[in-house]
Amino acid sequence: MAVAIKKITTDANVAPHWHAHAKEIQKFGSVIEDMPHPLGAKARADMVAELNQLLADSIALRDMYKKHHWQVSGPTFYQLHLLFDKHFDEQVEMVDTIAERVQLLGGVTIAMGGDVAETTRIPRPPRGREEVPVQISRLLEAHKIIIQSCLDISEAADKAGDQGTNDLVISDILRPNELQSWFIGQHLVEMPLILEK
Ligand SMILES: [Fe+2]
Repeated sequence: MAVAIKKITTDANVAPHWHAHAKEIQKFGSVIEDMPHPLGAKARADMVAELNQLLADSIALRDMYKKHHWQVSGPTFYQLHLLFDKHFDEQVEMVDTIAERVQLLGGVTIAMGGDVAETTRIPRPPRGREEVPVQISRLLEAHKIIIQSCLDISEAADKAGDQGTNDLVISDILRPNELQSWFIGQHLVEMPLILEK
């Protein structure tokens, strides 16, 4: 038998304090000056700016993979449906890796969709569905932007002495993006299933 609730309590001591509003603790675009990291604040600020751009572009690409995973159709539906979702999962990991580097360097990550939309260099696709070659072309264009960005950040990081960022963008971001780019790009090669006699 259910235990009857006889009273609604108005005792504030047992209620969660959930109407919390206060000023931000760190502004976006700033870096913490005194950090337990040998890199100076200026070098870290430069790296954070570059990494936040890469982060915005990677979030946009990540979300485009999910859009295409849902909206794909045609004879290659099943394989692309799965492949797009695999690449989405990998982009989730990459996004997290970049974001945590931004925080580690004393910066503030870009995070929410509206801010990403204002920042990314990846062209915005339409809300509606598109054919497979168009979907893949958009993804390839996005990968190209990200790969170039990794090369640029690597060079800047090397000059700044930030070998952690240098290694991260090459090992954790550039290489997986190259691989994803190859996997989807091969779907655009014209290849007959049956040879004519
Ligand atoms: Fe799904």
